[in-house]
Amino acid sequence: KNLAVFVSGGGSNFRSIHEATLTGSVNGDIVVLVTNKHDCGGAEYARGKGIPVIVFPKRKDTEEVLSGEDLVIALRSFKVDFILLAGYLKLIPAALIQAYPKAILNIHPSLLPAFGGKGYYGMKVHKAVIASGARYSGPTIHYVDEHYDTGRILAQRVVPVLANDTAEELAARVLHEEHKLYVEVSAALCEERITWREDGVPLIQSKE
Ligand code: GRF
Repeated sequence: KNLAVFVSGGGSNFRSIHEATLTGSVNGDIVVLVTNKHDCGGAEYARGKGIPVIVFPKRKDTEEVLSGEDLVIALRSFKVDFILLAGYLKLIPAALIQAYPKAILNIHPSLLPAFGGKGYYGMKVHKAVIASGARYSGPTIHYVDEHYDTGRILAQRVVPVLANDTAEELAARVLHEEHKLYVEVSAALCEERITWREDGVPLIQSKE
């Protein structure tokens, strides 16, 4: 299967999935990287590995502004089967969601539906978890719809919130699980091990 990964930052999830495609634990190829920040760590890593980079959306001060429809055309030209959002901070255009039904995933660093939505990104999520007194947190991988963090939940992993945690310590504990979880989910996606319950909830079937 052909994967597109979308990033805005360092791209550590992108790197761990990329490594898994090289070792074969994910039976797919990352054929294109999409970013809204042309010089972010994830984009630099992609260029270093020879993975094509698309900047979306383009900066307003450049002549060309790629539309959602243009992005769909570009992804189709790479024969993209699945789209993995990994720290991509912009809303996904409706055209893309319509063009790739049940094929776009996002990872969020809290146990959704708690601590999700527009204001919850980066350290803000972990600060809010600690301030709430919640004893557990962890990453959620969910399908993407037209809003932030509201699509169907596919997979979660639980980590403890420790009594004296800083947001940075909690973030690192969650991120460690993100890397493992996104690789496992990507493997399931590429092996077509995801089925849908009658009520629309997606399920991962374990390997035979
Ligand atoms: C992760 O915490 C992810 O859950 C969130 O953004 C962060 C991306 O980290 N959506 P990285 O760029 O993969 O290192």
